[in-house]
Formats: sequence, structure tokens, C-alpha cells
Amino acid sequence: MTATLIDGKSFAATLRARVAEHVQRLKADGLTPGLAVVLVGEDPASEVYVRNKGRQTIEAGMQSFEHKLPADTPEAELLDLVARLNADPSVHGILVQLPLPRHMDADKVINAIDPAKDVDGFHISNVGLLGTGQKSMVPCTPLGCLMMLRDHLGDLSGLNAVVVGRSNIVGKPMAQLLLGESCTVTIAHSRTRDLAEVCRRADILVAAVGRPEMIPGDWIKPGATVIDVGINRVERDGKPRLVGDVDFASASRVAGAITPVPGGVGPMTIACLLANTVTACCRANG
Ligand code: GUN
Repeated sequence: MTATLIDGKSFAATLRARVAEHVQRLKADGLTPGLAVVLVGEDPASEVYVRNKGRQTIEAGMQSFEHKLPADTPEAELLDLVARLNADPSVHGILVQLPLPRHMDADKVINAIDPAKDVDGFHISNVGLLGTGQKSMVPCTPLGCLMMLRDHLGDLSGLNAVVVGRSNIVGKPMAQLLLGESCTVTIAHSRTRDLAEVCRRADILVAAVGRPEMIPGDWIKPGATVIDVGINRVERDGKPRLVGDVDFASASRVAGAITPVPGGVGPMTIACLLANTVTACCRANG
């Protein structure tokens, strides 16, 4: 292994400590940031994420409001809850865990959230603000990736950045953020021709496709910085394991720096959610 490890776990711990300090200052002024998380249904992975979000929210000194609704909840009932959370002054951030059950229109639900409380940054207003370079709520996973890239590389301007994956949650906002840093940005996806060649041009390679170890070391430019957003559950030698979208063993022999899975991007996502909640609280209170 020649690549430097970008340690998301310790980076996230530092960010959480900074958030907790900020929360203490706000509390001294009589203001406690509050985050509401809504989970519909019983998806086990979502339940784990929601539990972790609640725990870390409380550890940071904030108020956590958890709303668990059965999978067959009518959409109108979820929209009512969102309206109540929008109107509640003790709630500064609202997150509706995705995916939602199939009978619900996720876009409709997300766009019912007050954009100022949309700590996921998924509301169409926040998407538009980010796309036009204006102050917005920034989606947590891409924000965490950008923080680690800036910390590791400093100025990103002029670098070739390739984002593999075009999801609304990661790929598209990641590309917007990198463009905002004056990178030359390519978004690649499942239909991209000669993906290997496109990846080899990247000074910064962000992999967010959700396919275990699909990017091998020989697709990586020597010295590149690799951010692996993938968290894929696989079985290796009969044991369950988490792997990224990048083949870590071969990539870490070529890259200049790389995030591990687990312990890279994952811990940064919740830390950024806490930071976004504090940002929303501060903006709501001048
Ligand atoms: N499901 C998987 N990732 C996310 C996320 O970042 N936000 C929400 N709301 N749901 C998710």
C-alpha cells in the first residue's frame, strides 16, 4: 500500500466535537438545535441509520425527535406530519429517511419540507440554489466528501474530477460542489463509454455507484485522490463484509490517497447532518 489513508472516522469525530462546541454556545444563548428524523416502514438498514442519527444528535447536545410510522401509512398522513414539523419552532432540521414505501411520492414529500429545514439538501429549491452557486443546504454525503478533499488537497481549482454515479443524493450534488471549487468535472455513469479511460484522467475520483469493488486499481491515475462513497454488503469467505465501489487492495497501490470502507465517507455523512442542523438553527434565528 502506497496511498495515504483519508481517515473519515477521525475527521468526523473532530467535526462532531466542533458541532458540539457550537451547540453549547447556542444553548448558553437559550437556543437548542433540534433535528426531526422520520422513518416510514421497517427497513433494517434504515432503522440502523436512524438510530445512529438520533444517538449522535443527542451526543452533540441537540434535541432529537424521532417519528416512526408504519409502512402502510397514507401519504397524506406523512405530509401532515411534515407540515407540523415545519411549523414547530423547536425543530430546525427535518430528515425523511429514504427510500419511502412505493405508494408514496418521495419528490412530493421532500418538496413539502420547509427548504430552510431541509438538512438533507434534497428540496428542489436547495438543488436549484446549489446549482446556481447560491447559499443553500448542501447534501450531507457530498459535503463530507468535499471537506475531506479540501483538507487533503487544499486548493482544488483546475483539477480533473470524475464523479462516477449520477444520483440526486450523491453524484449530481458532488459534481456541483466540485464545479464550485473550479474543478473540471465529468459525471460518468453506467452508460459511459470506456469508463476505465475516463477514470484514468481523474486527479480526483469519486465513486458513488453502489456496485461492490467495480473500480480496479488500473483505472486510477497514479497519485490520484480517491473518495469511495460505496457501502456494499457482500459475503467473503462465508463472512459478511462491507466493501466500497473501489477495489481497495489494488487501488491503494496506485492512488495518492484513498478513503477506506468502512471508516471513510460513511462517518462523515451523519457528522455533516449535525453540522447542517446547527447551520439551519443559526439561519432561522438570525
Ligand atoms: N437514505 C440513504 N441516504 C440517505 C440520506 O442521505 N438522506 C435520507 N433522507 N435518506 C437516505
